[in-house]
Amino acid sequence: MAAAGNDAGTTVSTPADYRALHAVSLAQPDDFWLPAAGAVDWTTEPTVALDRSSAPFYRWFPDATLNTSHNALDRHVDAGRGDRPALVYDSAMLGTQRTYSYSELRDEVAVFAGALADLGVGKGDRVLIYLPMIPEAVIAMLASARLGAIHSVVFGGFAPAELAARIRDARPTAIVTASGGLEPGRRVEYLPAVHEALTLAGSLGMPVVAKAREGFGHGIADYADESGPEGRWVDWDDAVSAAEAVPPVAVAATDPLYILYTSGTTGSPKGVVRDNGGHAVALTWTMRAIFGIGPGDVMLTASDVGWVVGHSYIVYGPLLAGATTVLYEGKPVGTPDAGTFGRLIEQHEVKVLFTAPTALRAVRRVDPEAALIRSHDLSSLTTLFTAGERLDTGTSAWIADVLGVPVVDNWWQTETGWPICASPRGLADLPLKPGSPSLPSPGFDVAILDHDGTPVPAGTEGSIALRLPLPPGTLTTLWGSDDRYRDSYLSAFEGYYTSGDSGYVDDDGYVFVMGRTDDVINVAGHRLSTGAIEQVLAQHPAVAECAVLGLQDPLKGQRASGYVVLKAGMAPDTDTLTAELVHLVRATIGPVADFRSVVVVEALPKTRSGKILRKTMRQMAAGEPLVVPSTIEDPSVLEALEPLLRPGPAT
Ligand code: COA
Ligand code: AMP
Repeated sequence: MAAAGNDAGTTVSTPADYRALHAVSLAQPDDFWLPAAGAVDWTTEPTVALDRSSAPFYRWFPDATLNTSHNALDRHVDAGRGDRPALVYDSAMLGTQRTYSYSELRDEVAVFAGALADLGVGKGDRVLIYLPMIPEAVIAMLASARLGAIHSVVFGGFAPAELAARIRDARPTAIVTASGGLEPGRRVEYLPAVHEALTLAGSLGMPVVAKAREGFGHGIADYADESGPEGRWVDWDDAVSAAEAVPPVAVAATDPLYILYTSGTTGSPKGVVRDNGGHAVALTWTMRAIFGIGPGDVMLTASDVGWVVGHSYIVYGPLLAGATTVLYEGKPVGTPDAGTFGRLIEQHEVKVLFTAPTALRAVRRVDPEAALIRSHDLSSLTTLFTAGERLDTGTSAWIADVLGVPVVDNWWQTETGWPICASPRGLADLPLKPGSPSLPSPGFDVAILDHDGTPVPAGTEGSIALRLPLPPGTLTTLWGSDDRYRDSYLSAFEGYYTSGDSGYVDDDGYVFVMGRTDDVINVAGHRLSTGAIEQVLAQHPAVAECAVLGLQDPLKGQRASGYVVLKAGMAPDTDTLTAELVHLVRATIGPVADFRSVVVVEALPKTRSGKILRKTMRQMAAGEPLVVPSTIEDPSVLEALEPLLRPGPAT
């Protein structure tokens, strides 16, 4: 069993074999993960996998050093595979394609790393990346990793205030951006957004490198002459032409590779910290064992580099595996039509497609028979993976029929960086169960707990918790705040990480994820905090108090709906108020919140101590039976709200 995790080795053929493998990963983590580490190039080889000495802050491969960018690029070039395609950029927005071989991508990364170094970026410094789905996003991430710096990618759909919050927290040495991104029917100008964010963040004065894209209203020249404290503006191409390639810098396996901010239950985003060594080992293992992808295979992950799925399976996973990744700039529908996934599969001979269920529902809504996808040659495709939200059985059956391949739901979070549960398709053809992301992955010890932290029997729903330690590649802490990490994840149940999801495990050990237990919602695969939206609504002069809930939505999974109580004497026109609140959320959080619905109510249900009963409202909105809490101040308020909250026709 010593070779349990080795990339070169194990295959399992039955569920019992897989369970045995999983048991080893929990009982003897070193026996599982040290062999798996053999698939990574180290500058100092690990002799130990797990360091428990600072529990609950666990560390993986504490005595090893490596460089992640070397593992993603140079090692494949050094092995004579430099001519193989590493990255295919396919822009449906521009109608263009470009392929980068491993040598080309390595060279571009090495020079851009040189440019960042010239701007003062070194080991441990942060590089904030605010880029659309263009190759420069991948290049900037890998260049940061090459220097041993720490990148923090911010999704382009966030507004300046959200960007500013991340700048304030990460305190980057440099920012990398572009003139803008392309959304259907509109151009999203990034430079004014970055400028505003820098101003909001308090003029931190760092250099801003911007890639010029044609057709945008704002160019670097609009800002380059500014001598103010908002930043030094540098053109990407100028920076690159003045720079020299630099070699990878070895870092400790435990050093951070990136920070990725995600929504928590409050308005302030949480900076999930990922290390270098555990991340490289875990992702490399998943590529073969879960996704069945190896050198020369093509993977298309239709997500965004700003989300964790994009980090792991657009950028790092496929490149660590020596595979080809397709960077797709466009939507599943409307760019130009609902056959896009079929075209991409055919043109790039995609073996594995990974997307969010909402994207599939969007295709189905427009083309219920999927005639457009079916018109393409799909023969290269072996598997469809979905994540980001629950895969409903209707969508799963529909797309399985369309594509003629297994559809593999996998459950994970920004925090875990890779699937907590998935069917390991590269190891074995284990039975899939509709509605379930299958069995826990190695190193994930899934438990279902009741509110006291007691494990519940199979089939009973409870909080999904993960017994510590978490496996390699998962979060090591929250940026700048060990305390917040502990409070957010480790304090609810002693010895466990709290996932924030509820669900159950069946008699065969298959996990079923039912939804969040907290104030996080999932809109079109995008994770949002209702608390953050509430903070924005509360800024409106007419709003006395408010609650935001995620209501079920047939396309996007959930949609945010705001319930507002007006200040005494305020009686604005409802349409005007709605328009103002919608605008405020869009301008403060960003279009990605897709906030459209406002309901003015007389009162919100509260406890006698004045706390709004959001959980009760959430349960009503989810269609669960109404249980009136004993602490409620005035039950009639809840009764009055009930018809407004019960699931009804979606907008
Ligand atoms: N930059 C700027 N704006 C963005 C953006 C970005 N990167 N991404 C989305 N937006 C905007 C959209 O343009 C839209 O703006 P609008 O209100 O002016 O139309 C708004 O944010 C909402 O976008 P979205 O939620 O994406 O809705 P949509 O109707 O444009 O598309 C889907 C619906 C289902 C096609 C799309 O959400 C999708 O492909 N989702 C998959 C999500 C995903 O990959 N998640 C990662 C987990 S795997
Ligand atoms: P994010 O951190 O943005 O990846 O969002 C993580 C959250 O999305 C999880 O906590 C779940 O609530 C939800 N999620 C992700 N994948 C799945 C899945 N396969 N099934 C059910 N929920 C999922």
